[in-house]
Amino acid sequence: APHTLQAYRASLLHFHADPAFDENACSWHEDGLLVVENGRVKAAGDHARLAATLPAGLAPHDYRGQIITPGFIDTHLHYPQTDMIASPAPGLLPWLETYTFPTERQFADPAHARATAEFFLDELARCGTTTAVVYCTVHRESVDAFFEASEARNLRMVAGKVLMDRNCPAFLRDADGQIGESEALINKWHKHARSLYAITPRFAPTSSPAQLGAIAELARAYPDTFIQTHVSENRDEVEWVRELYPEARSYLGVYDAYGLMRPRALFGHCIWLDGEDFARMASTGAAASVCPTSNLFLGSGLFDFDKADRAGARVTLGTDVGAGTSFSMLQTMNEAYKVARLKGSYLPALRMFYLATLGAARAMDLEGTIGSFAAGAEADFIVLDPKATPLLARRSSHCNTLEEQLFALALLGDDRAVRATYAAGCKVHERSA
Ligand code: GUN
Ligand code: ZN
Repeated sequence: APHTLQAYRASLLHFHADPAFDENACSWHEDGLLVVENGRVKAAGDHARLAATLPAGLAPHDYRGQIITPGFIDTHLHYPQTDMIASPAPGLLPWLETYTFPTERQFADPAHARATAEFFLDELARCGTTTAVVYCTVHRESVDAFFEASEARNLRMVAGKVLMDRNCPAFLRDADGQIGESEALINKWHKHARSLYAITPRFAPTSSPAQLGAIAELARAYPDTFIQTHVSENRDEVEWVRELYPEARSYLGVYDAYGLMRPRALFGHCIWLDGEDFARMASTGAAASVCPTSNLFLGSGLFDFDKADRAGARVTLGTDVGAGTSFSMLQTMNEAYKVARLKGSYLPALRMFYLATLGAARAMDLEGTIGSFAAGAEADFIVLDPKATPLLARRSSHCNTLEEQLFALALLGDDRAVRATYAAGCKVHERSA
């Protein structure tokens, strides 16, 4: 890549610790400068200090009045479900039967998969999401299409082929216990360009014990891959798993018994976990992906943020599109805040912005690579506009603290609040006026 040096003047916000446990977790530069060289962060700090370090003649991009943060990280969503977002059903299991499986069938077609991936990546960019952890379908073509599209945009994306060999339609079923395609996809895509692979058993009900055993072996053979699955989302699902795996201590205990709890394992939902489950999350380094718009939409339940924090479990936020009802991490924060309130917890806006940036990067063992403006980090960043809508502008003019300003952005903001999105120092989205 050609040598490039760029600078961006705006208010800067990023984190170096978790605000739930550290009062000085964030760096805030009201009049800040972000300096980017060859797609990586060179420096982030006060404009007054850093402007003098720029070569003569290099004028910073002027985003004064806006807030630059690291790009959002969405740790759980399904790109093949884009076309079925907001499909009505009374709960998870009928929703899967009625909409999800027929929709996912179409991803045997590479052209359909590629076109959907392009729209999906456009939508993420519009919402300021620069890294996502993505379910494809059981078809290897769906994975090729996704990574071909994300690499063409030079995005850091995590994705994988869904594995299921029972309790699903025959047209979406892996041959009994087989995981060979996943291994081939790891060798093709994991750490190719900015791509990272996630071994993706859909959830315990759709994998036989033989398949979970093979998956465990694969995960051990490739310890720096991700693992993603669903756990304890819905009460009927939890009951079903109790019947299918009667010997397990709990639903999460099924994955634990197969050795699938480890760093870089991301468990979607985690609503009906007990204290021991959360303690295992903490001691194994696995992470919860909390998906509030989905959980409210399907009526699945309310994640217990305090319980997770007391155990010291890694927590992140996901949209879970298409059960999630928005691609926006700001809207996801909005709903997370309300879920926390209903459970008697309190999520400050600073914590939510942490969870959507550095918190996710840490939970994914990617600290220093994405999620902050530490020197050398990849320059994935977004420009947020506190005056994006008439209402936001009016509210922002009355905000007296950073917390109030971020809270207003989280509660009132969506894709309209994202003025621009940059990936590895290149602009991948700019909102038209
Ligand atoms: N559990 C198993 N598959 C799915 C899925 O596609 N979406 C959600 N929300 N839960 C699931
Ligand atoms: Zn999901």
